[in-house]
Amino acid sequence: MSKEKSGVSRQLLTKEGAFTSDFEWPLTLLVDKGLDGAVTNKSRVGYVDGDKGRLIYQGYPVEVLAENADYEEVAYLLIFGKLPNEQEYVEFSQNLKANRKMPVEVVKIMDIIYDHEHSHPMSLLRTAVSVLGVLQKNVMDTSRENELRMGMHLIAILPTVIAALHRLRLGLKPVEPDLNLKHVENFLYMLHGKKPSARDARLLEISMILHADHGMNASTLTAVATSASLSDLYSSIVGAIGSLKGPLHGGANEVVLKEFLKIKSVDHVKEFVAEKAAKKEKIMGFGHRIYKTYDPRAAVLKKYASKLNDEVEMFKIAEVLDREVVAKYGSRGIYPNVDFYSGIIYRHLGFEINFFTTIFAAARVAGWLARILEYRAENRIFRPRDVYVGEFNKEFTVREKRP
Ligand code: SDX
Repeated sequence: MSKEKSGVSRQLLTKEGAFTSDFEWPLTLLVDKGLDGAVTNKSRVGYVDGDKGRLIYQGYPVEVLAENADYEEVAYLLIFGKLPNEQEYVEFSQNLKANRKMPVEVVKIMDIIYDHEHSHPMSLLRTAVSVLGVLQKNVMDTSRENELRMGMHLIAILPTVIAALHRLRLGLKPVEPDLNLKHVENFLYMLHGKKPSARDARLLEISMILHADHGMNASTLTAVATSASLSDLYSSIVGAIGSLKGPLHGGANEVVLKEFLKIKSVDHVKEFVAEKAAKKEKIMGFGHRIYKTYDPRAAVLKKYASKLNDEVEMFKIAEVLDREVVAKYGSRGIYPNVDFYSGIIYRHLGFEINFFTTIFAAARVAGWLARILEYRAENRIFRPRDVYVGEFNKEFTVREKRP
């Protein structure tokens, strides 16, 4: 078994690397760990240009959407392939508002199982979505109409669940959604129990727009693969949240902030990078399977994080770390990704660090839905292969005689 190319987990297997004698071994057999380079579908939803550092949603550069659109418009765009006109926008927003309220059963269950020491908000969110799926009717009706109905429910309700978890954690009562507020404004209102400033609402909105979709990433693949067996949407989103939670994926935003806190001041950044290099550890918030240049989302988030008066120290550490890592590893395509600057903004908005990835999930649910619907139109169950490198015809020994 040999590693063909450094940095790419593409393994060329040879017969010598395996025990098997019965298996018909082809001349060459390529194993692409992490499905690197595998193409699962044709898509119009979005495009990640890893060389030029561009991200497109349904034809629009993400920076343009972040600057000009709101989250409702972007969710509509991802799902329906066009920006909504006034009437479509009003209907879509009303539909989301009608779906905001959390069933009392979910609040009760969250309250019972919430262990303040050990429960991670992403685990609670995953469980809440699972409970919502149990309470929901007709989940196995996989028609586009029904999936859309359930998708609207999920987009609308994730902020309600997250805000309720935040408040339960602080020993406070969850706040009912305010139907006069827009999606993101209402998210912050339910979190703090007061209407956010226009600036803070816009900050979260921009971040949620930037996180709404990103090609066939790990959590989207999980969602799509679950749905491709014609399972229900709630199961797909439960799986996607589970995948996003991992620190190699959305969970990195949480670790990044914890590392900033450990670094403490700009004077220790160099030492931190050297220590990581010596231990051959990856620096969280850097590197990407597709981007080999600056992640365009990180560039936008950096701009907004730099303007926060209450996060000056944190931003300084981030900026110097960014510079150091890019100087050291930039030539190998290692640059900040979306998870690097987002946490500074979330902290400013009053989210606790272990809630950061839940915000990513609340934003990405629109992309998960759009990709599921797109794949469903020409559905095929996922079934990649692995290669058996074990033995054949082993002799069975009864338990008493086993060494
Ligand atoms: C997200 O896919 C998406 O689109 C995801 C996402 C989305 O919007 O959905 O963009 C969101 O998940 C962002 C990524 C968040 N994760 C992190 O920040 C964790 C740190 N980054 C890495 O672990 C890594 O870069 C990944 C997981 C993001 C990508 O992994 P790959 O493509 O499997 O790359 P790899 O681990 O095989 O690394 C390739 C090389 C290695 O060096 P060599 O073995 O070739 O010498 O790059 C090096 C790695 O050691 N490398 C890093 C590094 N990331 C990769 N070196 C130092 N620090 C890092 N962070």
